Amino acid sequence: MFDIQEIRSQFPILDQEVNGKPLVYLDNAATSQKPNSVLEVWKQYYTEINANVHRGIHTLSQLATEEMELSRRKIQKFINAKHDFEVIFTKGTTEGLNLIAYILTGKLKKDDEIIISYLEHHSNIVPWQLLCERTGAKLRVIPIDDNGILQLDYLDQYLSEKTKVVAVNQVSNALGVVNPIEEIILRTRRNSDAYIVIDGAQSAPHFRIDVQAMDCDFFVFSGHKMYAPMGTGILYGKEHILDSLPPFHGGGEMIATCSFDGTTYAGLPFKYEAGTPNVGGNIALGAAVDFIEKVGHENLQRHENALLEYAQRQLLEIEGLKVYGEKARRTGVVSFNLEGVGISSDVGMILDKMGVAVRTGHHCTQPIMDFFNIAGTVRASFAVYNTFQEIDLLVEGVKKAKRMLS
Ligand code: ALA
Repeated sequence: MFDIQEIRSQFPILDQEVNGKPLVYLDNAATSQKPNSVLEVWKQYYTEINANVHRGIHTLSQLATEEMELSRRKIQKFINAKHDFEVIFTKGTTEGLNLIAYILTGKLKKDDEIIISYLEHHSNIVPWQLLCERTGAKLRVIPIDDNGILQLDYLDQYLSEKTKVVAVNQVSNALGVVNPIEEIILRTRRNSDAYIVIDGAQSAPHFRIDVQAMDCDFFVFSGHKMYAPMGTGILYGKEHILDSLPPFHGGGEMIATCSFDGTTYAGLPFKYEAGTPNVGGNIALGAAVDFIEKVGHENLQRHENALLEYAQRQLLEIEGLKVYGEKARRTGVVSFNLEGVGISSDVGMILDKMGVAVRTGHHCTQPIMDFFNIAGTVRASFAVYNTFQEIDLLVEGVKKAKRMLS
């Protein structure tokens, strides 16, 4: 049974006032709050078993290693990876995307092409621009329509034997638009041998992920947007692909043998996990997976979709309010502006005075803002603990902002 009050009681941070008003936290696409179960596992690691992993014969080191490897297996199951060693711990989506762009350097040459989309976060744009600078490859960008929907005809036009990478997000952070990645992967496989990279930063917190069914080559996401601590993330890569590519960072843990004559590399996943990892965070990421599984994906999605529909309906009743991507399939996000109110941060500041936390600005997606010819939007983003009453407070705040600013 889905009991919203029981879920909220697991998030101590929600039970507070901000600026004299009950906190309404609607900035979940930036980072989610953490339930007690995650905080406790994290604290327990530091109070009871803190030690480095894969390095010690002593008991604490072995315990820490067991817990972190157990977490890896939970995440393997969570995304349905074939092997646990295809699950690499990173510090987040940005690191995962940079890692992939770096290790693919030797696979691209001048005039090869990388396809991304207009809907990407800067972290799925800039690493590919850097790869283009290193190799002489070119970037091609799938355009969107006025609803923020990808124009897949362009993907068909762009795909060729020159295409070496197709990198798109599953859900847009700025608009919440859900991209047809199954279709994108199908068309890409049919027309090229490109590596397929999916940015799951905004989908992993909301959807059941199945990387095998999806048939992507890489899938990356962050822990902190799905109830886990900051500084945690996952890079999934298919075994034969990761095996065929060079390491990223050099250092401890990623070697098989090291001498001045040369170094050989460890097998997966350690080849990509140089240095001391965020052991406590990685273990707590496993607890976040447990939390989501316990709530249940169906419950979570049903609730979040209902919140989104309700929010959009209420907001659109405000005259002069425009929702970006209004008619697109979306999840978790409503991004909007008030007519005549040029600066989204003014709305955000008034909302903050009312205890309502949203993100304003370009959301690290300047090309989307350029497309709509705006400087930014007000973005409310939802998690499983949000309520319909909180949406009412958001709407009340937006109405107040409109009165004050127009
Ligand atoms: N990428 C995060 C966001 O969309 C920080 O807010």
